[in-house]
Amino acid sequence: MEKTEYFIAKTFANLEPLLAEELTQLGAKNCQIMSRAVAFEGDMGMMYRANYYCRTALRILWRQCKFTFANNRQFYEQIFDFPAERFLDARGTMVVHATNVDSIFKTPLFAALLAKDAICDRFRDLYDVRPSVDKDDPDVQFSLHIYKNEAQLFVDSSGESLHKRGYKVSNHPAPINEVVAAAMIQLSGWKGECDFIDPMCGGGTLLVEAAMRALNIPAGFYRRDYGFMRWKNFDSDLWKSVRKEAKIREDVPVNFYGSDINGRFLDIAETNIIKARLKDFVTLKRLDIADTSPVRTPALVMTNPPYGERLQVKDLLELYGTIGTTLKHQYAGCRAFVISSDKDALNAIGLRPSLKKTLYNGSIECRFMGYELFDGDRKEYAKNKKSAE
Ligand SMILES: C[S@@+](CC[C@H](N)C(=O)[O-])C[C@H]1O[C@@H](n2cnc3c(N)ncnc32)[C@H](O)[C@@H]1O
Repeated sequence: MEKTEYFIAKTFANLEPLLAEELTQLGAKNCQIMSRAVAFEGDMGMMYRANYYCRTALRILWRQCKFTFANNRQFYEQIFDFPAERFLDARGTMVVHATNVDSIFKTPLFAALLAKDAICDRFRDLYDVRPSVDKDDPDVQFSLHIYKNEAQLFVDSSGESLHKRGYKVSNHPAPINEVVAAAMIQLSGWKGECDFIDPMCGGGTLLVEAAMRALNIPAGFYRRDYGFMRWKNFDSDLWKSVRKEAKIREDVPVNFYGSDINGRFLDIAETNIIKARLKDFVTLKRLDIADTSPVRTPALVMTNPPYGERLQVKDLLELYGTIGTTLKHQYAGCRAFVISSDKDALNAIGLRPSLKKTLYNGSIECRFMGYELFDGDRKEYAKNKKSAE
């Protein structure tokens, strides 16, 4: 049996429980929720699986050693003893990133430099050559977490952040992060049982993430590179077998509809959807949200309107007011979810939310709101819903 290893999966604040659920379903052991991360245990296959299948993870770090230290010398020696040659070629490239809280080091940068020196000195002792530092495209990324007198050294198995799924070949100026989009879909409870509509779809992130989810397409299906592929101990047979575990559906009995007022943005969405080979599933149309309605009900509406930060809007409150009236009058029988960083604008929607959650689109703090849309009186609707249950 393969050895059990310790990993940390990183994510955005408030997505930790979703990520822990995903990891558990994939077979991770001892999942522990931390701040913007989930710690878990598993073997190498589990590390590849987490990278390939987790929709809400940003990166997966594999812990190599954990030690206490009282001074620079002890710190240096314990990093020196770590067999970095298992991952890195003597002529390869690397980078060390560090976080540092309450330790003897004044800055994380100093700790990272000392660790880099220790790794390079070990290579020079062993092989007479040392790896070089490449901050932009290193073969191996080390990640040091220092808290007080304790250090943990990780290797970053993901490389580029996992939100870079590989289907975004054309970029919208104000996209939703793919990990946040996947989390919104997970939080809505939608699993592909009804049509999915984004009436302000921009570059199409929510549509692609929803179609991937319904068709069971792994999060990393379109991505070609992962950090672990450049390690000396990369096991390509194991990687192939992990990818073969995917049970992709060929078809689903629902449709995906995207519209936007801006034709240029629809072109971006189309390019991304074609790259994701999802053109047969998604219908795109140039429309003002006020002129949209579902083809059939119930349907799930999910959208990310402009916040007035990266995309300027003439009258944000009026736009959100239009979103509210459109949802109320044209989407009765559907559920709707809206994410925005502007609380006043969200209030202008004028519908009572059934869900409110704080999420982060990268560094932008947002509210994610859910609405049940019904015809007529709320009390009557609640009564009918209860008796139907
Ligand atoms: C924040 S962007 C959506 C980005 C998208 N989620 C993505 O990941 O690429 C908001 C979109 O709303 C569109 N929009 C603004 N006003 C609209 C309206 N009245 N009707 C439909 N779309 C509108 C904009 O053109 C823009 O593409």
